[in-house]
Amino acid sequence: MSIEDFKLSSVKNKTILITGSSRGIGHALCEKLLSMNNSVIGTAKNIEHLNSISVINNDKFFPIQLDLESIDSINLMVAEVKKGFDKIDVLINNASILGEMKTLEDYNYETWKNVININMNHQYYLTKNFLPLIKNSKKGSIINVSSSVGRFPREKWGAYSVSKVGLEALTEIFSQELKEVDIIVNSVNPGGTATDMRREAYPDEDQGQLPSPIDILPIFIYLASDDATESGMKFNAREYIGSMEF
Ligand SMILES: NC(=O)c1ccc[n+]([C@@H]2O[C@H](COP(=O)([O-])OP(=O)(O)OC[C@H]3O[C@@H](n4cnc5c(N)ncnc54)[C@H](OP(=O)(O)O)[C@@H]3O)[C@@H](O)[C@H]2O)c1
Repeated sequence: MSIEDFKLSSVKNKTILITGSSRGIGHALCEKLLSMNNSVIGTAKNIEHLNSISVINNDKFFPIQLDLESIDSINLMVAEVKKGFDKIDVLINNASILGEMKTLEDYNYETWKNVININMNHQYYLTKNFLPLIKNSKKGSIINVSSSVGRFPREKWGAYSVSKVGLEALTEIFSQELKEVDIIVNSVNPGGTATDMRREAYPDEDQGQLPSPIDILPIFIYLASDDATESGMKFNAREYIGSMEF
């Protein structure tokens, strides 16, 4: 099955966990997947930011606070999800932070460790802890949100770039190790998208020229579907803009 033949109807009645669903790409994913009749567990560092999720299918939306900086916070979140759900069909590791835009020589080491923890080490820890629930799904899918600098490291992107390179490696290793239990694991590079993080990286840019978070959703929706069989792949969301009628 390819994205061209794919039917939106194959993404419904699923339980989907999206980290960082209060803003930007995670928010757009959350709203879209709720509107397609899925149950969505959405997280944010600041739980009040999740009030921005609209009331469409609100009875299927389960907001949970999660600070990826803290292992305790991840443990609490995992326990809360396990209390309410027997399975997770799709895990979207979307939340991350930018850190500093500085040379390696000038980078603050405390910030460095924090970025690597939030964007890589703790994404691994969270994924590892959800594997029992994902294995209970008939069609498990893990989507790791990467970046172009996770594929091609670039000057002044420091810890963010290194963390996304690591996330790409985790994607490949998980994909090989989970093949026999039929869980697919892929990475998606959104490409420059009009969000707060992008504004932090490029404060002088006109965001009107960029795709919106909604524009880049098709590849994510496909990878969440029953139809996707690809695993260990590196997708670029921009290549799929306009490939689905929403
Ligand atoms: N936008 C782009 O151009 C672009 C390009 C390439 C890759 N990406 C990747 O796409 C993903 C989404 O980016 P975005 O631009 O949509 O980001 P964003 O608008 O900055 O949103 C970040 C989200 O992550 C949450 N978050 C921040 N710090 C957190 C923490 N310590 N623990 C848990 N959650 C935390 C935020 O929650 P709060 O609201 O509570 O702060 C928010 O929901 C990221 O992985 C990013 O690296 C984005």
